Amino acid sequence: AKKAVLGPLVGAVDQGTSSTRFLVFNSKTAELLSHHQVEIKQEFPREGWVEQDPKEILQSVYECIEKTCEKLGQLNIDISNIKAIGVSNQRETTVVWDKLTGEPLYNAVVWLDLRTQSTVENLSKRIPGNNNFVKSKTGLPLSTYFSAVKLRWLLDNVRKVQRAVEEDRALFGTIDSWLIWSLTGGANGGVHCTDVTNASRTMLFNIHSLEWDKELCEFFEIPMKILPNVRSSSEIYGLMCLGDQSAALVGQMCFQDGQAKNTYGTGCFLLCNTGRKCVFSEHGLLTTVAYKLGRDKPVYYALEGSVAIAGAVIRWLRDNLGIIKTSEEIGEIICGLTQFTNKCHIAFAALEAVCFQTREVIKAFFLVDGGMTNNKILMQLQADILYIPVVKPSMPETTALGAAMAAGAAEGVGVWSLEPEDLSAVTMERFEPQINAEESEIRYSTWKKAVMKSVGWVT
Ligand code: G3P
Repeated sequence: AKKAVLGPLVGAVDQGTSSTRFLVFNSKTAELLSHHQVEIKQEFPREGWVEQDPKEILQSVYECIEKTCEKLGQLNIDISNIKAIGVSNQRETTVVWDKLTGEPLYNAVVWLDLRTQSTVENLSKRIPGNNNFVKSKTGLPLSTYFSAVKLRWLLDNVRKVQRAVEEDRALFGTIDSWLIWSLTGGANGGVHCTDVTNASRTMLFNIHSLEWDKELCEFFEIPMKILPNVRSSSEIYGLMCLGDQSAALVGQMCFQDGQAKNTYGTGCFLLCNTGRKCVFSEHGLLTTVAYKLGRDKPVYYALEGSVAIAGAVIRWLRDNLGIIKTSEEIGEIICGLTQFTNKCHIAFAALEAVCFQTREVIKAFFLVDGGMTNNKILMQLQADILYIPVVKPSMPETTALGAAMAAGAAEGVGVWSLEPEDLSAVTMERFEPQINAEESEIRYSTWKKAVMKSVGWVT
């Protein structure tokens, strides 16, 4: 059959907490041509612990690339038109591997993992100077969430990791580093690097100087020799990469100061571009690196507020409660909601919780994306609960699109210009609030009361 004639194509690996995807876009129109998705297992060895197998993650990337290429072949699209591949990834998740064998030395400790609570308590007792020591350098509070404490835990508790560090065989990285090292040759000369957005989530990276911070490494007692090289988010280093939430910011074209987006993935992550200023919040928001789209390009910063459990609640309804069989089913059972059907109430409440928590971090703007935004009920609920319109691109894969744009725009690739016109073909869907302001307020304050009542239930 005749091959379809298209312009240059750009691929994106989107490695999230729940699944891996590979997507291929037409760089002229930003149209999604084909994709494949594979779900990733999560292990919970103890309460509060969350691990994933780094090799399963790597394997899922290969499988997604292979299957997507097969699908492109069926569409008569020549895969040699793929000019670059970008990577966007779940951030903070920590991997240590052996550079001689390519074998991970422990499972990946996932961003959601809470095992480092006592590590954090101990560290906070010996913060040098004032309490602002970590936040002023990194934009982050000292918390279990970020990689430094997960890495500290691995160095303290896993003999294989300790030995590999002593023998100069250990490499540390977030998922982007692990994938890029493996995909660029692994033990046979793989590139050990990360980008500024992922580095900014480790709690070891100085977001002002854009370098690993010696004082922080000393404080966390992390040997600097195991850290990856930090690069910009858009340059050729085998592949290009961005932390997934930064990729979504780029994919939503939030390049202006004040523009923001919310991505509904495993968690919900709201990022607001603050331009070239590093803004610090008094209200618990994090300061993070938004992107640096080229070696000589300026760095842009963002404020971030997050809801840890969003898509994860759907997985919990499916895997732990068994009240739905597939994630899509949540849309159907809610449609059938009556006051007598308990499982529907639970499912509805789960979605509502995502929306209420999002309201906690949002006041006035709302561009959304992510897999969950295909759920129209969720989007309508979100508009009602925020009492502002919610706007979503009809193609919700903006995280992958952002990674593809960064890859396509890299010097030496140059098939994407990052101009707003590039996305003129993207249509938007708008959800207006369908309840009045008073009802929205009542629902929110009732939820807050319920949260207050539940404090103490969970130990
Ligand atoms: O900080 C964690 C975040 O990057 C995970 O994103 O897409 O897996 O919910 P996602």
